[in-house]
Amino acid sequence: MKNKLNAFNFHEKKDRQQKISMITCYDYSFARILNESPIDCILVGDSGAMVMQGFSSTVNASMEMMELFTQAVCRGAPDKFVVGDLPFLSYRMSLTENMKNVERLMKAGAQALKLEGAAGNLELVKYIVESGVPVMGHLGLTPQSVNTLGGFKVQGKSEDSRKKITEQALNLEQAGCFSIVLECVPSDLAKSITGKLKIPTIGIGAGVETDGQVLVLQDLLGFQTEFKPKFLRHFMNGKSLFNQAFNEFHNAVVEKTYPNENEKY
Ligand code: KIV
Repeated sequence: MKNKLNAFNFHEKKDRQQKISMITCYDYSFARILNESPIDCILVGDSGAMVMQGFSSTVNASMEMMELFTQAVCRGAPDKFVVGDLPFLSYRMSLTENMKNVERLMKAGAQALKLEGAAGNLELVKYIVESGVPVMGHLGLTPQSVNTLGGFKVQGKSEDSRKKITEQALNLEQAGCFSIVLECVPSDLAKSITGKLKIPTIGIGAGVETDGQVLVLQDLLGFQTEFKPKFLRHFMNGKSLFNQAFNEFHNAVVEKTYPNENEKY
């Protein structure tokens, strides 16, 4: 496909002041639909542990899970730039183990990988990038650290925390990241960091001034109504539309109007 976005030309969108759209995906069927959409980039997020597997946090994501999700998405969306998420602790082992995990997700089809946090990761980011693997950073609310952050809370509210996140963003850029996700930080902080970086920032719950936006697919489609943080917009009432279709199928079966004369052999 012509002009396909990738880690090498990702920054060109920022240079041209064009926003970047990213959506998460974990399966073949949705990947096929995304492949036909204008969406710039697909993230095979470790949020799949929650929305696909029902866990209460991303701590339960495993390499096996991420590998299967990534393979399915890459089969369904061969024309899209696919970023794979390294799951909890998979990049906090020995260098050999870390690189084996990097290799697994790249061989599953990802064209870049995302990891969370900067503290203790900078040397590794540099090593992964020097090994030929583009890395996307992730700062602010880093869900894999939910247990040290005391919950899913907005980060960067205090002056100290703002300084720390800004410094981490600059360090990740320096280490070679091609982009950074900023999650749940005040919009003025996201704007300030975005202005300081050459690489694009992708926001979620970080206001409109980041270089792009990402949402979890099931959230933006409104598949569930219980989780509704302030930043989330439902671009479709998925839950009620699906319910309607399931009800219609059930009623058609019960009332023997499905299958009809034209729907049988
Ligand atoms: O796993 C995920 O879905 C993410 C996005 C929220 C950025 O990391």
